[in-house]
Parts: sequence; C-alpha cells; structure tokens
Amino acid sequence: MNLRELEAKLENLDTQARTRIAEARTLDQLRGLVSRLVGRKGELGRLIAAIPQYAPQDRKEAGQLINAVKTRLAELFAEAESRLKSSDVEAERRAGEAFDPTTPVPARQLGSVHPVTAVQWEVEDLFERLGFAVVTGPEMETEYYNFEALNIPEWHPARDMQDTFWLTNGMLLRTHTSPCQVRAMERFGPPLRVIAPGRCFRYETVDASHENTFHQVEGLMIDRDISVANLIAIMKLLLREIFRQDVRIRLRPGYFPFVEPGFELDMSCRICDGRGCQTCKQSGWIEILPCGMVHPNVLRFGGIDPHEYTGFAFGLGLTRLAMMKYGVRDIRVFNSGDIRALVSPEKLTGPAIIGD
Ligand code: PHE
Repeated sequence: MNLRELEAKLENLDTQARTRIAEARTLDQLRGLVSRLVGRKGELGRLIAAIPQYAPQDRKEAGQLINAVKTRLAELFAEAESRLKSSDVEAERRAGEAFDPTTPVPARQLGSVHPVTAVQWEVEDLFERLGFAVVTGPEMETEYYNFEALNIPEWHPARDMQDTFWLTNGMLLRTHTSPCQVRAMERFGPPLRVIAPGRCFRYETVDASHENTFHQVEGLMIDRDISVANLIAIMKLLLREIFRQDVRIRLRPGYFPFVEPGFELDMSCRICDGRGCQTCKQSGWIEILPCGMVHPNVLRFGGIDPHEYTGFAFGLGLTRLAMMKYGVRDIRVFNSGDIRALVSPEKLTGPAIIGD
C-alpha cells in the first residue's frame, strides 16, 4: 500500500464516518460507531496496524495522515455525544410529562373505619337480612317525639333519667334513638320492622364509660302476636352475629315508660371476660340492650291499635358494643379523633379483635 492509496482510503472513511455520526440517534449507536471506526480493532486501528508494511520513508507520513483523521473524528464524536446527551435528557423530560393511559394505577390506600361505624354496618347488614328497614331520624328533635309520644309526659320523673341538652329554639338534642319509633309508626303503619341507628346526646360528665355524644340503634318490630320470646330470640341472634360466638346474657327487669314489660339485657363483659374491670365497674356484666314490649300508649301515639298489634323495641348501645367488640377500654377514645382507634378495612369482616 502506498501513501496515495492510504489518502484515498482515509478520505472515504472520513466521509462515511461523518454521515454515520450525523445519523446516530442514540448514545448507544454512537458508541458502537466509535469502536467500529477508531477503536483498536476498528477500521482506523487496522490502518495503524498496517504502517510497518509501508516503505520506511513513508511510515512517518502515513502515521500522521491517519492520526489527523483520528483527531478530527474524535472531535466529531465528542460533539455528537454532547448533542445526543442533551437530547436524551430532553426526551426523558418529555416522556415524564406525557400521559400514558396504559400505565397501571398505583395501589390506592384504603382509609380505615371508625369502630362505631364498623359495628353499625354489621348491625344494619344483619337486620336487613331479617327484613328490617334502616331509617334515620333528626338529631335535633321535638319534645313530642323524644318524650311525649314515648309515654313520658312533662310531669314524668323519667325525664330526669335522661339529662337533656335543651336548645334555645324550644327543641332538644335527642337523648336516645327512641323518637324514631313513633316516627316509623306514622310513616309505615303496622306491621313494621325497622332499625334506626344514630347519634344521641346527654348532658353527662364524661369519663371512661360515659360520653355526652354516643351512638345507639333503635329497633322496632310490630305485628300480630309478637311476644317476649321473639324479642329474646332476635337479641340473642344479634349478639351472636356481632361477636361471632354465643354470648352469655342475662335479663333484668328495667323501667322505661315506653315499654311494658321492660328489661335490661346485660352481656358478660368481654374486656375482662366476666372477671370484673373498670369498664364493667367490677360487676362482670355490661348493660348493652335495654328493651321491652312496646307500651300500648306508644302504639296509640303512633296510630296503631294495641288490641290488634303488639311489638317489641330495643335500644342497642352501639358505642358500648364497639367497646366490647374492639376491646376499647375508654369510651373517650371514640370522639378523640385518634386514628389509632380506627378499624382497618381487612379487619372489618374478620373475627373480633378480642381474643385474637
Ligand atoms: N331509649 C332507651 C334509652 O336510651 C333505651 C330503650 C329503647 C329501652 C327501646 C327500651 C326500648 O335509655
């Protein structure tokens, strides 16, 4: 090979290299070109390796010619590299902004549920399966529905049983969900099966087992031939369903002007398993379900003939039930806003936390 041939080869290589460098679209492509053209095993590398074959006086010039091309190409590579690098960044930035509708949605964090809500849902679910309608009533009530229609006239000492928040407009904050009883009778007429969950208010000093704001579920079933036996059966079913096991209960006579006979249904305290603790005031029992047969006067207030129909009613202490079910020792936790007391979604349908 002589110098002229070398020059021609180099020129050819130079032109080809420029086009290919200009055409390179990615850094990877460019790096491939570098090794194919100027790398030791590339085309220029082979020309350098062939220098000893030239006539001795030509070798120096051959080397210089090759090196000149090598330097020029190295500059072109450097330029192309910085061009591609900045356009890669640009492409990445644009990809980040672009909306890709096929991207999988990130897993959503499910919120947790207040224990009272969790128990309320369970109670609603059970009673719906038993054919009860779920109704609600106003939290700001009239004296009529909260007391009068429930056989508690103005002079009745039973009004003192429920320390009432009276409002300046002559109304009150309902002290129980029982006002929903007569409201339901007026709305549906007999026979009827309803539950009414909701918030109640009493002017109470707050401590570990008393709250001024708490939840109840009222239950009312009216039909022909309803007896105490029906009441007990439904109450047992309710507690068994909530606690997913048979729960020990006891019935004591209880006085509520709107039921006759009236009962206090207690369940054995699940916080201490009946041994006695702060929550059950060392008695081993928790008053959870006041109930009874609807008083004839109340049926009359609701426009129902007590000679034809009978019924039972209960007022489930939802807040207390949540305490029992989720092992909450202090009732104040519920209104504290403390998110540690919430029930995670996967626990909602699982077994009760107590005993786990
Ligand atoms: N409303 C009563 C209370 O809160 C409870 C109750 C309801 C009692 C239904 C009997 C029947 O004290």
